Amino acid sequence: MDRRTRPLLARRSVRDFTGDDVDIADIRALLEAGMAAPSARGLDPWRFVVVTDRKMLDRLADVHPYAKMLRQAGACIAVCGDRAVAPDFWVQDCSAATENILVAASMLGLGACWLGVHPRAEREQSLKELLRVPDGIGMLCLVAVGKPQHVPEPRTRYDQTKAHSELWT
Ligand SMILES: Cc1cc2nc3c(=O)[nH]c(=O)nc-3n(C[C@H](O)[C@H](O)[C@H](O)COP(=O)(O)O)c2cc1C
Repeated sequence: MDRRTRPLLARRSVRDFTGDDVDIADIRALLEAGMAAPSARGLDPWRFVVVTDRKMLDRLADVHPYAKMLRQAGACIAVCGDRAVAPDFWVQDCSAATENILVAASMLGLGACWLGVHPRAEREQSLKELLRVPDGIGMLCLVAVGKPQHVPEPRTRYDQTKAHSELWT
């Protein structure tokens, strides 16, 4: 493990939260990190819906099949993208924003987990309806955020066989 990239390697999916609220200043820092992501042609198509209401967090957990941890999360950020602004690249831009949010959460001592939505059409539609996200906006994912019950150790998944040097063969 290269110590210089430790803050990045410390980002791990966290699915056990204490149930505590997340500070509004921390939410703001997460959004700022998300909006610092690279974006094709600098179009910044990302849009975010921040949910902290307990009942809504529980409803999101009901609708998303792999998001039970939202019942203990302090917040959920729905990462959305304006498809008209960046029809070709909204998914990539929003993915970059999501990763920035996850890394920033880890740096703030928060736990977070990417919960896939797009391109599961049915899931995306149900969640968009729940959060009143208009047509023309895609929902890439939900990010569960909370105070972690345990902070996982940084880890490397480095695998030399997945990297080719100069040419594939
Ligand atoms: C596109 C995408 C969708 C994911 N969806 C879910 C999900 O619905 N529920 C969940 O608990 N984790 C989800 N994850 C998290 C992965 O399970 C996790 O990143 C992976 O197991 C690697 O572990 P790590 O994040 O701790 O490095 C998703 C990750 C990605 C990139």
